[in-house]
Amino acid sequence: MQAINIVHNIIRWAVLIFGIWTVINAITGIKNKRTYSANDNKSNLLFMVFCDIQLLMGLLLFFYNGWFDKMKAGMGAVMKNGYDRFFIIEHALLMIIAWVLVHVGRVAVKKAAPEQQHKKMLLFFGLALFIILISIPWPFRTEVARPLFRWTN
Ligand code: HEM
Repeated sequence: MQAINIVHNIIRWAVLIFGIWTVINAITGIKNKRTYSANDNKSNLLFMVFCDIQLLMGLLLFFYNGWFDKMKAGMGAVMKNGYDRFFIIEHALLMIIAWVLVHVGRVAVKKAAPEQQHKKMLLFFGLALFIILISIPWPFRTEVARPLFRWTN
């Protein structure tokens, strides 16, 4: 699980890079009244792919790194401990919500009328990126802080 934690830490940067690229494409698309392009599709497809990888790694960490055992031992204790509550409830739940938004967003953008596509892109992927940004255990989040880059455990 140590290797998975390293990968989960580093892949977060791919999620953020493709999420930001997607949101920039959505904003410039609305501003310049562009038609939805292969470049727009590529940015949000890569955003989705890296979110999928993070979900898979996150679930492995959740079930095999002791978090699920803590949950089974009793939610009362988890809720009283800010560190455990963050990873078991806040981080996991909010990241799953962001993942759902990215998947629903892909379908919504594909189905939308051409003049609505960038707006849908901004709504779904912008919201997902915001949720991801506030749910990461950034180094400044004292109680749950994790490093920006992890190379060892
Ligand atoms: C876009 C989605 C996600 C991002 C960007 C993300 C990011 C991160 C980061 C940066 C860490 C700190 C890693 C370190 O210790 O260096 C972390 C830890 C963790 N994440 Fe995620 N995560 C995502 C999704 C998920 C999901 C969906 C789950 C579970 C269902 C999850 C479960 C965990 C767990 C359990 C840890 C703590 C690992 C441990 O120390 O045992 N993550 N995540």
